[in-house]
Amino acid sequence: EKLHISIKNKILPTKYLYDDKGSKLFEDICNTEEYYLTRTEKSIVQKYAKDIMAASSAEEFFELGSGSSKKTKILILEALKYRKKLTYTSFDISKKALEMSKKELKTISKNLSIQLVKGDFINDLKNIDVGKDRRLYLFLGSTLGNFNNQMAISFLYNLSKIMKKKDFLLIGIDKIKDHDVIKSAYNDKAGYTEKFNKNILDVINNKYNLDFEKNNFTHSITFNKSNNQIEMYLKSKTKQVINFPNKEKILIEQGDKLLTEISRKFNDKTIKKIFSNSSLKIRKTYFDDNKYFSLYLLNSK
Ligand code: SAH
Ligand code: TRP
Repeated sequence: EKLHISIKNKILPTKYLYDDKGSKLFEDICNTEEYYLTRTEKSIVQKYAKDIMAASSAEEFFELGSGSSKKTKILILEALKYRKKLTYTSFDISKKALEMSKKELKTISKNLSIQLVKGDFINDLKNIDVGKDRRLYLFLGSTLGNFNNQMAISFLYNLSKIMKKKDFLLIGIDKIKDHDVIKSAYNDKAGYTEKFNKNILDVINNKYNLDFEKNNFTHSITFNKSNNQIEMYLKSKTKQVINFPNKEKILIEQGDKLLTEISRKFNDKTIKKIFSNSSLKIRKTYFDDNKYFSLYLLNSK
């Protein structure tokens, strides 16, 4: 797999944010005061767990990009109140995430069967076993916001095509709110997001035998108002050259910015449009009192 970074197109592949260390740092981010997303989504899950399980009558769970499964645990516990047996599958690109998920869930109940699948939800979704039972897919943490519009639609459309008639999808979406509130969530004072951002350089250096120097970059967050998205960059402190093993070079000027991740924020209209373009139908919408975050329960059309 070739690394595509050109002088014009300074974008790093976001999936490299999540190696063992990155997954650990993501957990630390979730626990910061500034990162309202996790606790808000958790509060919605807690409040509506019963309703979500009643509406979906899920016989099994399949989570995409599970991380540590802490929020999903609440739904699993709710489901196990009524079900003798439940299968939970975590599908994640990160070995560390799968381990954390297992650790979080393994002591819940002997009636819970846990399956860990390491894979890429962009490329490997078409190969998953779709099962026979009524399945609840989960896609939490506003991970959809990390896709641009076209990727979001093709990802959800592909998912809708593998969903059986009675399957549901529960998806967590971060909403547009005060821009300073949003920005500070990606600029925590303790510096976990900065470490998370810079860690991508270690991952890429290892994988591609490159020589990015972390200390030559600063963590930079902007809120792009026309696209309603957070953009996370590594901004070059100096003029520098990155040497590829095949002797290619990338010249980076002082102030140049490498994009490492976007995080889009939605309003009802923009997210509804994505769902309808992806052949998905909204069955239920849940949100918190501040309307910071929404959970949508969807069916395939
Ligand atoms: N759902 C969790 C974690 C969100 S962070 C929560 O709400 O807290 C995004 C998760 O997706 C991480 O666990 C990361 O390892 C995983 N991930 C990122 N890119 C992925 C990809 N291409 N394929 C599969 N999983 C991916
Ligand atoms: N899905 C998370 C989000 O968009 C991923 C994330 C956490 C993230 N911290 C980040 C993305 C910092 C970009 C920058 O919030």
